[in-house]
Amino acid sequence: MAQTGAAMGPNGVLTSTRKADHLRINLEEDVAAKGVRAGFEAYRFMHCALPEIDLAEVTTATEVLGWRLSSPLFISCMTGGTQAAHRINCSLAETAEELGIALGLGSARVLLERPEALSSFAVRELAPSVPLFANLGAVQLNRGVTSDDCRRLVAMLGADALVLHLNALQEALQPEGDTCFAGLLGRIQSVAAALEAPVVVKEVGWGIAADLVTALLDAGVAAVDVAGAGGTSWSEVERLRLGAGPAARTAAQFAGWGIPTAVALTQARAAAPDAVLFASGGVRSGLDVAVAATLGADLVGVAGPFLRAASESTASCVELGREWTDVLRIAMFCTGSTNLAALRSCGRLVRDDCGPVPGAGDGVALLSSLIEAISELRGTRVRRPALP
Ligand SMILES: Cc1cc2nc3c(=O)[nH]c(=O)nc-3n(C[C@H](O)[C@H](O)[C@H](O)COP(=O)(O)O)c2cc1C
Repeated sequence: MAQTGAAMGPNGVLTSTRKADHLRINLEEDVAAKGVRAGFEAYRFMHCALPEIDLAEVTTATEVLGWRLSSPLFISCMTGGTQAAHRINCSLAETAEELGIALGLGSARVLLERPEALSSFAVRELAPSVPLFANLGAVQLNRGVTSDDCRRLVAMLGADALVLHLNALQEALQPEGDTCFAGLLGRIQSVAAALEAPVVVKEVGWGIAADLVTALLDAGVAAVDVAGAGGTSWSEVERLRLGAGPAARTAAQFAGWGIPTAVALTQARAAAPDAVLFASGGVRSGLDVAVAATLGADLVGVAGPFLRAASESTASCVELGREWTDVLRIAMFCTGSTNLAALRSCGRLVRDDCGPVPGAGDGVALLSSLIEAISELRGTRVRRPALP
């Protein structure tokens, strides 16, 4: 593996120290975005009083990029590189295996500095039958990390895919951040072409707009996780690392930054109807998972809540995943959907404020007239702002 300049930032901050800070702050402080919401709360399902299906037939199982999963829910990329991270990763891996869901590991950049940190990521044996995602900041491709390094990281971790994250705002707020993002799309294209494993690109909580989703897919990435705003805010995490002073005040101004996850997902799905899309960022309930799946997410990622559950125990973590998948299954039942494809086309997802989701199936016309009728009865005008 190439030894890169990634070992230390300009301020001499080691990656492992930063990772330990991130874990501690995420577990002990309020890191939620402020002034922006993920947008799932703007939707509701029109209840189907007579679903005409048997709950026992309803399955949340899915197949994505050739992987068979018991649920679209997945544990989004988080940690590695420290002892505390190792304990968390073990818990997350046991959870993923128990539930049959995919698992993302945290950035493997630390392995470029300290290959001996591998043990903190080594969870393949605990999760032998589920997809495991290796993770790296895409900006590292501008810091000397090569396609061969990426391939080696995937092999070292026994991973099934490489997830490259885009975190321009986070790097800009870090005194030691890597802020040269110039020419990265071409480098991502080279890595996607060179690797045998699928390459996925994600944000870290500010969203990927539809034009970039299309450009990334054209560049050969296998899937995009829009990873929008409304959940864990990395500007808030960096603000809390910075203490008081001008740099912290700068970070504070970005607490509400980003494209809400539901908006990013809806726009991306409209721009790329057949692409493999993941959604994460601010998914905080089983119903959020159901809304995201209906809006077109093939997989729905959760980070912060799984971290907090894993820090308690593996049992809490399994319970969280099981509970949200159960909620998804029951929501599918109550919309008359026996599988996720049926859920996506059920036509029962409506926006609370502006009517049915376009293209969402046969129920659209009926729901539209219902909403208009209710508005007339209330003497209000039907507002139909442009949908995202
Ligand atoms: C403790 C922690 C560490 C994270 N580290 C990474 C990382 O190394 N790479 C990455 O792509 N995303 C990382 N993320 C971002 C998440 O994958 C996700 O995009 C973001 O937290 C939004 O999801 P949430 O609102 O469910 O937390 C991390 C999140 C948390 C909570």
